[in-house]
Amino acid sequence: MKLLSYIVATLFVFISSSVWAEQDAYTYANYDQVTTTHIYLDLNVDFDKKSLSGFAELSLKWLSDEVQPVYLDTRDLVLHRVMAQNNNGQWFGVTYDLAKRDDVLGSKLTINTKFKAKKLRVYYHSTEKASGLQWLTAEQTAGKDKPFLFSQNQAIHARSWIPIQDTPSVRATYTARITTDKDLLAVMSANNEPNTPRDGDYFFSMPQAIPSYLIAIGVGDLHFKAMSHQTGIYAESYILDAAVAEFNDTQAMIDKAEKMYGKYRWGRYDLLMLPPSFPFGGMENPRLSFITPTVIAGDKSLVNLIAHELAHSWSGNLVTNESWRDLWLNEGFTSYVENRIMESVFGIERAIMEQALGAQNLNYEIAELAPGDTQLYIDLKGRDPDDAFSGVPYVKGQLFLIYLEEKFGRERFDPFVLKYFNDHAFESLGTTDFVIYLKENLTHKFPNIVSDEVLNEWIYEQGLPSYVPKPKSDAFDIIDVNINQLLANEIQLTQLSTAKWTLHEWLHFINNLPLDMTSELMAELDKNFNLTTSSNAEIAHAWYLLSIRVGYDVVYPEMSKYLVAIGRRKLIVPLYKELATTAKGKAWAQGVYKKARPGYHGLAQGTVDGILNK
Ligand code: BES
Ligand code: ZN
Repeated sequence: MKLLSYIVATLFVFISSSVWAEQDAYTYANYDQVTTTHIYLDLNVDFDKKSLSGFAELSLKWLSDEVQPVYLDTRDLVLHRVMAQNNNGQWFGVTYDLAKRDDVLGSKLTINTKFKAKKLRVYYHSTEKASGLQWLTAEQTAGKDKPFLFSQNQAIHARSWIPIQDTPSVRATYTARITTDKDLLAVMSANNEPNTPRDGDYFFSMPQAIPSYLIAIGVGDLHFKAMSHQTGIYAESYILDAAVAEFNDTQAMIDKAEKMYGKYRWGRYDLLMLPPSFPFGGMENPRLSFITPTVIAGDKSLVNLIAHELAHSWSGNLVTNESWRDLWLNEGFTSYVENRIMESVFGIERAIMEQALGAQNLNYEIAELAPGDTQLYIDLKGRDPDDAFSGVPYVKGQLFLIYLEEKFGRERFDPFVLKYFNDHAFESLGTTDFVIYLKENLTHKFPNIVSDEVLNEWIYEQGLPSYVPKPKSDAFDIIDVNINQLLANEIQLTQLSTAKWTLHEWLHFINNLPLDMTSELMAELDKNFNLTTSSNAEIAHAWYLLSIRVGYDVVYPEMSKYLVAIGRRKLIVPLYKELATTAKGKAWAQGVYKKARPGYHGLAQGTVDGILNK
């Protein structure tokens, strides 16, 4: 009987996952007919032309019996020619067609091979418009001496510098030969050799199959410093030592994560420090996370970012969302694992504070979002996935997993997560598959704890369920009391015991000050705590946001410098949005943006253009 039900369940999983797997709406690729198994890139990095040129060679595996055209994703690429190799190893020139450019998807490339090609070679060059690349001139870097290039492929920008099946449903290994100026170092999401000779000619290999959004490159005046046997930093000299000091707990994070979630399967784990214009906090490119310099605070207060990108080595890079509608599987699991790593390295109090800050921000965000965007399994309706980006997949996803953890207890939930990572290692899966797996391995295995209705509410419904976990921090409760006393004039600012406050307590404090704060009290806070000139990018951000809201104009000169120096969307976009709510604020913001825009990444430019109607 047991065996029979096992067979039925297995069959059900098999049928449902193969029948229900929807085509990823963000690719032109016919990946159900032919799929890429390996990619070889042979590219020259030309900083003068802001172009990568050479060829991409795709090794193909045919799933269909008939010969089919091969459809690839491209955006703003200039193609030179296409070759195809047959089973005997002979190469032929083949015809191709590049369709008109779609604003979201780019240009569909149709390759007609007339035989089932074993390999395709596309000769091409990328253009200055490449949405996945940012080219910085020497003057735009900190050292002012050498230029910098970095890629950001997630979600669908790989196609702007590689003709490719650009969907997280397809995984391939890759190798690459990258040539560039002799005095620059190139690194990739692959096997970087810390001692490689700096000669402008570099070879890379990524022997594990990864989706296209994890292919990554960085080129610049980079230097390496080890932090441990397995971890190290690539950075421009000005920031290398500071980064090593800030992030030297990375090895401890790996060790703790391995204990909970199984072996780290990628070999080395290095960090690449990017210029301040990097539009994200971090990007989990395998073996080499890309990191914003804005998290170097000098006191390790923002290193949850490293825990986050590292956590993607399990959730995201090992087990991958099959489409961008399923982003919560990547980011929700990662936010959960990130917080577990933070708990095990820095203690439960800090972990809870980080949960509570996330939950409060999520509540504010949900109040502003279109209701449809508050679902975990989101309906993107043909929109650009970048435009639907929010904290929902992150924090609502994390709260869902915390809910399950609390219901089942860590003794049952932790083995479930470990098994999930192992059972789906190097696979891509969607929400439907995940729900089937979750039921079979947790909620039905231990019945009558969490119902199917509850699962459905979390995953398919809008907003937050009434029974959402509410992370409670004692330290934050004390601050709430302090704020009330302060506003009621029961205590003076100098009586606050701020000396031991962590970044998290400061953020909670600033975020919970009322909007009828007087300029006198703001000025007094500033005088005592130097918030306007805080060197912690998160504190400065929270303080500027409050200052705009309460009309404390003193911050504007410093805020202007901040907006010009930093291009991380999470830190700048809320400020521009808030400024744009008044005519005066908007005019000021437009003035600052004029100076800031040339230094921003295309993604940030797109977002801020929209806010300021440029
Ligand atoms: N993978 C994301 C960044 C991303 C998501 C890029 C979706 C493009 C589309 C990365 O892991 C991330 O989540 N970064 C956060 C980190 C934070 C939550 C600690 C960021 O950049 O702020
Ligand atoms: Zn992430």
